[in-house]
Amino acid sequence: MLHRCITVVLTLFVCAVSASAQNLDSLLSRMTLEEKLGQLNLLSAAGENGRPSTDQVALARAGKLGGLFNVVGAENTAAVQRVAVTESRLKIPLLFGLDVIHGYRTIFPIPLGEASAFDPDAAQATARAAGVEAAAAGINWTYAPMVDIAHDPRWGRIAEGSGEDPYLGSLLGAARVRGFQETIFATAKHFAGYGAAEAGREYNETEISERTMREIYLPPFKAAVDAGVASIMSAFNSISGNPASGNAWLTDTVLHKEWRYPGFVVSDWTSVAELIAHGVAGGASEAGRRALTAGVDMDMQSGIYVDSLAALVRANRIPMAVVDSAVKRILRAKMRLGLFKDPYRARTAPPIAETRTLARRVAGESIVLLKNDRATLPLDKNTASIAVIGPLADNKAEPLGPWHTMGQPDDVVTVLQGIKSKVPASAQVTYVQGSGIEDSSTAGFAAAVNAAKQAKVAVLVLGERGDMSGEAASRSDIGLPGVQQQLLEAVAATGTPVVLVLMNGRPLTFEWAVEHVPAIVETWFLGVEAGNATADVLFGDVNPSGRLPVTFPRSLGQVPLYYNHRNTGRPYDANNKFTSKYIDSPNTPRYPFGYGLSYTTFAYRDLKVANPRVKATDTVTVTVTVANTGTREGTEVVQLYVRDEVASVAPRVRQLKAFQRVSLKPGESRPVTLRVAARDLWFYGLNMKRVVEPGTFRVYVGSNSAEGQEAVFEVIR
Ligand code: NOJ
Repeated sequence: MLHRCITVVLTLFVCAVSASAQNLDSLLSRMTLEEKLGQLNLLSAAGENGRPSTDQVALARAGKLGGLFNVVGAENTAAVQRVAVTESRLKIPLLFGLDVIHGYRTIFPIPLGEASAFDPDAAQATARAAGVEAAAAGINWTYAPMVDIAHDPRWGRIAEGSGEDPYLGSLLGAARVRGFQETIFATAKHFAGYGAAEAGREYNETEISERTMREIYLPPFKAAVDAGVASIMSAFNSISGNPASGNAWLTDTVLHKEWRYPGFVVSDWTSVAELIAHGVAGGASEAGRRALTAGVDMDMQSGIYVDSLAALVRANRIPMAVVDSAVKRILRAKMRLGLFKDPYRARTAPPIAETRTLARRVAGESIVLLKNDRATLPLDKNTASIAVIGPLADNKAEPLGPWHTMGQPDDVVTVLQGIKSKVPASAQVTYVQGSGIEDSSTAGFAAAVNAAKQAKVAVLVLGERGDMSGEAASRSDIGLPGVQQQLLEAVAATGTPVVLVLMNGRPLTFEWAVEHVPAIVETWFLGVEAGNATADVLFGDVNPSGRLPVTFPRSLGQVPLYYNHRNTGRPYDANNKFTSKYIDSPNTPRYPFGYGLSYTTFAYRDLKVANPRVKATDTVTVTVTVANTGTREGTEVVQLYVRDEVASVAPRVRQLKAFQRVSLKPGESRPVTLRVAARDLWFYGLNMKRVVEPGTFRVYVGSNSAEGQEAVFEVIR
């Protein structure tokens, strides 16, 4: 057997696979039922200072633990790994998980912010860097990327995903999987539909048709699977009454049978036990049985599989084959990660300077310029006096945003620091906090107004606390919290030009600012380099190129509001009362998906479809000439949307199908080519089969989802 393995690479691969399959089978045959269920058990470290508790170490020794999460530091992970691989009967190594979402120690922009860069390479690079730092701390498995599509800004977890679009979400999700998996395992979560929580209320039920599930919520998971994601986390929510963590249609039919996903499924935190509260299980063993037989292989934090399922297996109420296939998936993952050969995986992190340079570049790309009247921005570095005002202006904690793992406030450059480092020492930069983020005191207003009066320009840094988005952080009002709106109005009343810098984890509503403030910059939570990246944009060292990955509504009453909706039988007509509309608000968003300004301007011309009649197996090639018509070098995100004109199921008005970041010098113009494979024009037909229907498609190419040059092409039989 062995000599044949050395002949050719292919044989080597086949031999390696079959050798590990043999190892796996022989390992499985030596395992007791308790040891098998132990591999399906995942617990959060419950000891002091990021260590597992004594009981958890005892579980590792007894072979009743498959992995731990939230263990802090390579010494602590190595200590318990040593117990697993030297003191347990079968010496099976543990997985070490952690929520490394947008950085480990070096914190990058929150995923929603980073999605604004429309730059999968950047997302891959930050995921890679986060993985490298986490691996150096003994972590071998992250619970990211979150690939949930979200339509509701009330939902705090919108901050952790890539926004509302399945195409952008798929590209970024796959890129992050590739980036993390250069060193550690990734997890695509939360499977599935969690982002559709009714009323944006965390953990709420969802009502999602199979068509919408397949067209909107599932594609980013499929992209993650295609990118080789090692694990998938089942969600908390129910879908039309069927909880995702005990939903055989999702985890068995779609994931394993249709997609042939070879990795494993981990539950969310106690989501197996929560089947009881959902009301679909009368007790722990029923909950465990439903989850395991549905295809949830690993039980995070409920302890139900290990504590309650042995009796059911012995009573033949759960087939041993179900347990075995879950165990095999987890052991196979441990083999794939190389844990049997190298359980400690000692790694070093690269010098911090490299990751910080990356953090600054990506943070700069993530900033979206929303408004810039009378060329208020960029600011002149020689502006004699600048008032920097607001509760987030010199705040080191909040720019880290939600889920900042080991991120340290001391590592953060604030906006005030960033501004100070741009201007000469002679410039007068005055800082006044003005108000808190949420409290109601206006005591600081007078000083803020005074500072603004003395200054040539006032930069107001307003928004949310980092933990007002993320898990368990839904809001019923998406305006500026506390008295920040009043602070803004008081400062604007001085007549000093105001630049509003927003820091937040979701789309906010800020209509007053849109009407009264000349310049608005969306910075999300940018991480450790927040202040430098913001100052780079404010002073024009970086020309903003971010585009919104999510629609910004005018008011909460418009929510859910997203660009790729269907038309209705009475499409919106502002002048016709009996069309789909409100009597007190336009339908249109404040800022559409894909929107963002630059310090230069771009013009589009000569849109052409090279092959306007294609078969379903062909690719449509579209070219457009993009010109930089302003005076600065800049980067445009050229976006291509498609609309199926007539189909058996009401088509969506537009769907993003391609985009490209294009950098142009002043006066430069360039033809840009974008391609759409006709097979990507699919939807789920009336019979719930995926179909590309022949017919006419309208293509739009432009700066955002609400504009663009138009052309048509036809898909023929
Ligand atoms: C609950 C969250 O929903 C999930 O995203 C996270 O990975 C786990 N807790 C583990 O911390």
